[in-house]
Amino acid sequence: MSRSSRPLAEHAARAAAMLAELGRISDAPDNLTRLYLSPAHRRAADLVRGWMEEAGARAWIDAAGNVVGRFGPDGAPTLYCGSHIDTVVDAGRYDGALGVVAALLAAGDIARSGAELPFAIEVLAFGDEENVRFPTSLSSTHAIAGGYDPAWLTRRDADGVVLAEALQAFGGDPEAIAGLARDPARAIGYLEIHIEQGPVLERAGLPVGVVTAINAAYRADCVVRGEAGHAGTVPMALRRDALAGAAEMVGAIERLAADIPDAVATVGRISAMPGAVNVVPGEVSFSIDARAPADATLAALVAEIDAACASVASRRGLDFASTPFMRAPATAMDHGLQQALVDAAKRVGIAAPRIPSGAGHDAVAMAGLCPVGMLFVRCAGGISHNPAESVEESDLGIAVAVMIEAILAVGRARGG
Ligand code: HGY
Ligand code: MN
Ligand code: MN
Repeated sequence: MSRSSRPLAEHAARAAAMLAELGRISDAPDNLTRLYLSPAHRRAADLVRGWMEEAGARAWIDAAGNVVGRFGPDGAPTLYCGSHIDTVVDAGRYDGALGVVAALLAAGDIARSGAELPFAIEVLAFGDEENVRFPTSLSSTHAIAGGYDPAWLTRRDADGVVLAEALQAFGGDPEAIAGLARDPARAIGYLEIHIEQGPVLERAGLPVGVVTAINAAYRADCVVRGEAGHAGTVPMALRRDALAGAAEMVGAIERLAADIPDAVATVGRISAMPGAVNVVPGEVSFSIDARAPADATLAALVAEIDAACASVASRRGLDFASTPFMRAPATAMDHGLQQALVDAAKRVGIAAPRIPSGAGHDAVAMAGLCPVGMLFVRCAGGISHNPAESVEESDLGIAVAVMIEAILAVGRARGG
């Protein structure tokens, strides 16, 4: 039985209420959209910092926009846990936020219980996991993990706002980011709870699972250039239609990924210029997101995609350019932390299966600092990146209880 100092149902209800409140903080009037360094991100960060202080932590918002809640003395070895509070556009309320709320409730429960741990706990609410606003890659997480790329500060969003300026307007400090990197020698590990964003747990009828590895990921911005022309007068054989060419490329991207087991590729964003009904499009920009379980498999897929797009462009007399802006390696979860999570679930009465993650997570960046482990929570229909995202309230309580047991297990393993 769990050593939670409170009934699981109490943790579940509290988590549900916190997620509902956080889920109402949006930059959009009619859906949940909370992008990195936006006004809604700032309001959400202030709310989470208040919760951290109520739970007994010393809490602050750091130079990169992360919210940090520290339980325990400065300078002590530290176990990190958390997830992200930024969202995609028209998002669900659980992706990321669930991991922050569950980690905070678990750390607060342990602090309240007076359990002696041989390390401090830092609960982290990262701000740039989705990388939707700026073409970066887990930037604020890498600031903590020590892998921050200063070039990210020069990246611009769709409105031309430079990340460094957005950070200053948010209350961050580009100059102080380098100093956020945690000391690997005192980083014990990182535990993240996240919705599965897939159907496996629901089909197995299980509330939680333990992640074995996270797929490798690649993202690029592509531009196809042809020649704008009069839709009524340019003969079909003389056109250099950028959108017709891009459409052929999108079909090729889909076919190439479908032919590789467990690989995926998505064109999630496309725009045609000048975008008038009676003008042959002269220029198209589109995004590519490609993933695979192994780095080599992903590299081969990306090479095939680039070759296929170049071939379509050459045949149609178009120019094609692809600018990669994100590469994340396949990331294995630490075996010791996997076992700690499996054992913790058992103590809560759950036989947690081990499953891979097709989605990317903050753990990919934190793996540059310390061993990482992740717990997945069942979500209805595996739906995510969609307002229909939902989690059973009782599963929230189980997630908190498993996190408590896992943290205590790490403590025992270190002689606590
Ligand atoms: O795209 C992803 O895999 C994550 O949700 N950012
Ligand atoms: Mn996401
Ligand atoms: Mn996420």
